[in-house]
Amino acid sequence: MVEPPNSGKPRDDIEAGPQPTADEQRPPFSPPEPALFSLTDLSFWYGEKQALADITIDLPLNKVTALIGPSGCGKSTLLRCLNRMNDLIPRTRVAGRVEYRGQEIYASDIDPVEVRRRIGMVFQKPNPFPKSIYENVAFGARVNGYRGNMDELVERSLRQAALLKEVSDDLKKSGLALSGGQQQRLCIARALAVQPDVILMDEPCSALDPIATLKIEDLIRELVEEFTIIIVTHNMQQAARVSDYTAFVLADERGAGRLIEYGPTQEVFTNPKEERTEGYITGRFG
Ligand SMILES: Nc1ncnc2c1ncn2[C@@H]1O[C@H](COP(=O)(O)OP(=O)(O)OP(=O)(O)O)[C@@H](O)[C@H]1O
Ligand SMILES: [Mg+2]
Repeated sequence: MVEPPNSGKPRDDIEAGPQPTADEQRPPFSPPEPALFSLTDLSFWYGEKQALADITIDLPLNKVTALIGPSGCGKSTLLRCLNRMNDLIPRTRVAGRVEYRGQEIYASDIDPVEVRRRIGMVFQKPNPFPKSIYENVAFGARVNGYRGNMDELVERSLRQAALLKEVSDDLKKSGLALSGGQQQRLCIARALAVQPDVILMDEPCSALDPIATLKIEDLIRELVEEFTIIIVTHNMQQAARVSDYTAFVLADERGAGRLIEYGPTQEVFTNPKEERTEGYITGRFG
């Protein structure tokens, strides 16, 4: 009797073929610019709860990348994984790789304090210290033992944060006496004063009015000439206005955030590849 094809016997005439190379395992989109961060299968847990699952993404140098997605999908968690801010939260665990300039930032010989100096952060609610404008900006540099001319550093940082003109006549005034938008720019100046490479921004405009928001957006476009910016935003117009690339994150059925789509902002917003992305950006869910 002639055996029919596919009789279940193992075939020895075919091979699995070559294993995918590391490059082929990267996601379908990788920006043409050099990657500042390269994440591979990044997962994150708060205790038992998994908040991020298998995030693989390259974030380019000197560009603005926006992280978008519904509330609770893990955007802030992802941002905090980039500068080891999550280390400060007890009972958390990270798996996978986060390379920054080719160096694994979770390696045992890496100092998380130095990581956080190079990779600065600005939060949702402006949080100046109850100190003068000058001291707010000088604070981080002092802590890091800055030995240069402090007056110059404060002035330069305030100028870079587009705040100098509004405050130059009274740097002794309390940071808390500024408007919300000015306070947020003060926090940006404070982040810049430690001379970081990257600024992570977690919904930096959500507590601001439209005019203060536009000022921060203009500032982001100026800063990206010199820095790399990763911004979390719920505002789709803002993501479209300020970012070069957009990453869309969505929680899976277990609640762990996964990267659904990533690409040039223009493409993600006008011609998304995934229906779920389109649903989110057009406001059908989230
Ligand atoms: N400190 C924490 N301890 C325990 N669980 C946390 C903690 N922070 C966040 N989570 C959980 O992790 C998940 C992701 O939270 P995360 O704050 O990263 O979401 P998000 O996308 O930034 O949401 P939002 O848009 O509302 O800011 C959520 O389920 C949240 O409840
Ligand atoms: Mg958040």
